[in-house]
Amino acid sequence: MLIMVAGITGNIGKQVARASLERGHQIRGLGRSPKKLDPEIHSGLESFVESKTYYDVSALEQAVKAVDAVVCTYGGLPELALDGQLLLLRAAERAGVKVGTSCQAQSISLMH
Ligand SMILES: NC(=O)c1ccc[n+]([C@@H]2O[C@H](COP(=O)([O-])OP(=O)(O)OC[C@H]3O[C@@H](n4cnc5c(N)ncnc54)[C@H](OP(=O)(O)O)[C@@H]3O)[C@@H](O)[C@H]2O)c1
Repeated sequence: MLIMVAGITGNIGKQVARASLERGHQIRGLGRSPKKLDPEIHSGLESFVESKTYYDVSALEQAVKAVDAVVCTYGGLPELALDGQLLLLRAAERAGVKVGTSCQAQSISLMH
């Protein structure tokens, strides 16, 4: 599967990326700071989409294009938990993504 990890530069995002790569998945990352990625994860990525912030809709649309699944590992700030996840969800829906999940406690259930 091609899996897009939003917040891949965070603690959970790195773990999701590493575990998914070990299982043979392709990983696309979305984040603001590619320099925060471990080099071995960065070199294994299908691609990395750099965003300005969570409401950078053109970056969201680029990130979800043609992926099989979306995993949201944004930090726990309220604006990320609500606005950030909703913008990501809407972009994924527009792109026809059918599978998604979030590690945030307040997560919105994504597509099935
Ligand atoms: N760590 C745990 O043990 C744990 C356990 C259970 C659940 N969780 C949940 O998992 C989620 C992630 O936790 P974490 O520890 O991995 O957090 P983290 O290390 O702080 O990572 C947060 C991620 O969100 C991104 N981010 C922050 N502000 C942003 C913004 N304005 N626009 C776009 N991206 C933004 C960060 O990007 P930058 O790198 O660019 O800052 C980073 O990739 C949280 O919701 C947390 O509650 C964590």
